[in-house]
Amino acid sequence: MKDDKRNYIIVVAAGSGSRYGGDLPKQFCDLRGRPLLMTTLERVHACAPDADILLVLSGSMLSFWREICSVLGFGVPFREIEGGATRAHSVRNALSVIDPATVGWIAVHDAARPMVTPEMFARLADGLPGCSGTIPVVPVTDSLRVVEPDGSSRSVDRSRLRAVQTPQLFDGKKLIRANDRELLPTFTDDASVMEAAGYTDLRLVEGDPRNIKVTNPGDMDIVELYL
Ligand code: CTP
Ligand code: MG
Repeated sequence: MKDDKRNYIIVVAAGSGSRYGGDLPKQFCDLRGRPLLMTTLERVHACAPDADILLVLSGSMLSFWREICSVLGFGVPFREIEGGATRAHSVRNALSVIDPATVGWIAVHDAARPMVTPEMFARLADGLPGCSGTIPVVPVTDSLRVVEPDGSSRSVDRSRLRAVQTPQLFDGKKLIRANDRELLPTFTDDASVMEAAGYTDLRLVEGDPRNIKVTNPGDMDIVELYL
């Protein structure tokens, strides 16, 4: 039975990259002569070659993306999905094409994280049996303060905090069910959607400090160094 299940990797690439700036959304910016997104897709595909990749893109970038894939002969197979207004809506659009009857696991990954590795993916997959999802985390290295509306602030104990990365891996049926609800602006990742739906048995696994999300100008140089 289990062999009939289909596994999916949703790669969300429909954002505008407002913090990164520039003419193109960051996932299409140059990394070693091609759009960053190509590195992400190749590396995530290498993590689970049998999984179907659902690539979420904004309609305005579709022709640019198809053209450059054809010019460069990009070989990783994917199915295109139309993006939504927020990251959570983009994920939901991808989930809408998955049949809950046959789904196994679903991974959700930020296009802007090209440094995903098979080792990290294996930790996520190994941790999944017996829980609703596995989440890669890393310790926080900066000192942190909570700022109140009146501008006052206080330090917090960073030893209990973790920074959350992607890919996040979920029981597919549960992820689909969890997304069948109002999507709040506070849902910055899929673990938060799962939690709000009552799936609190999410297991934290060791992420990778190099698995950064290209967010601000200069982050591409760091990724370049890591590669
Ligand atoms: N994303 C998406 N659909 C959206 C918003 C974001 O698919 N409506 C994707 C981005 O393309 C990115 C990932 O979600 O790969 C993580 O989001 P983030 O790093 O915040 O990217 P942007 O929203 O594009 O950047 P910014 O917040 O700076 O505008
Ligand atoms: Mg964003």
